[in-house]
Amino acid sequence: MLILSFESSCDETSVSVTRDGCAVLSNEVLPQIDIFKEYGGVVPEISSREHVKGITLVYKKALEDAGVTIDDIDYIAVTEGPGLIGSLLTGINAAKTVALNENKPLVGVNHLSGHIYAARIDHEIKFPCLAVVISGGHTELVIMNEDYDFNKIGSTTDDAVGEVFDKVARILGLPYPGGPLIDKIAKEGKPIYDLPRPMAHSNDYNFSFSGLKSAVSKLIADLEKDGIEYKKEDIAMSFETAVADTLYQKIKKALKEYKVKEIVVVGGSAANSKIRETLSTSFKNVEVTFPAMKYCGDNAAMIGISAYYKIQKGEIDDMSLKASSRLDL
Ligand code: KG4
Ligand code: ZN
Repeated sequence: MLILSFESSCDETSVSVTRDGCAVLSNEVLPQIDIFKEYGGVVPEISSREHVKGITLVYKKALEDAGVTIDDIDYIAVTEGPGLIGSLLTGINAAKTVALNENKPLVGVNHLSGHIYAARIDHEIKFPCLAVVISGGHTELVIMNEDYDFNKIGSTTDDAVGEVFDKVARILGLPYPGGPLIDKIAKEGKPIYDLPRPMAHSNDYNFSFSGLKSAVSKLIADLEKDGIEYKKEDIAMSFETAVADTLYQKIKKALKEYKVKEIVVVGGSAANSKIRETLSTSFKNVEVTFPAMKYCGDNAAMIGISAYYKIQKGEIDDMSLKASSRLDL
């Protein structure tokens, strides 16, 4: 089964062709990062306009790279939410146009399910599984007993992991998006500052990262007030260590209640070196998997893979498909 998929929920315009539930034939991604560097973050109105500009080209390239024509495609998949509403609408309208013109069935895909199924690319997931979604907009722990069975057990009560990386980067004077830059400079630093692990020991599976961001601000203000020299690299490494340790503590707690065979860590911040190192070496008797780096951030291939499993459940949409900025798994 060949699926053509569209992803435009935030600041990447992406179109992909995937085969069945694990193989990627093409995955064109047009990032908008360079445009948003000068704004320090995504401007929704500009993002939608950029998607409109780029989507036709990206669509053509995805078919070309896969070596197929639109006639070979069996299904059209598209991210329906959550995400920026104007940005989502561009992908949905493109997908609907192709589906209608070419008379192909349409499948709407939840963006977070897409992130989870990025772990399925070239890899078999073992169930029951714990999915740890850490992206710019979401931080969720999800138990899956089988394919397309999502049971959310916890989420962030304020900032998401990627969001707190971006905010701490701004505090450190690094440009948007801060996650990759913090990752880079932290490699030259040491975790010498003791930062909080918010809610790490609370009696649930929820997170709170905004206090950690405030703690970093306060640490810098105190050091500067006392005239103590510091290295941004050490702050970055101390911060990353606190995030990785908080995730570790909550996952460890979840593993006591839920007997899972595999943990998949997905989303933009699953690209982080410290998080990858900490989580891949901390758990015994359970496999810990991360998608390949190129499938951690937003991309259409993960949407196509997720769509395949939705189709297996007999769930297909039609032209009434709507964009939704807040769509639960
Ligand atoms: O999943 P994603 O591409 O978009 C959303 O669905 O939100 O995630 C984007 C987030 C950004 O906040 C970015 O800073 C973060 O992922 N990110 C990272 C790294 N690379 C991207 N965070 C930490 N370390 C990284 N290496
Ligand atoms: Zn995402």
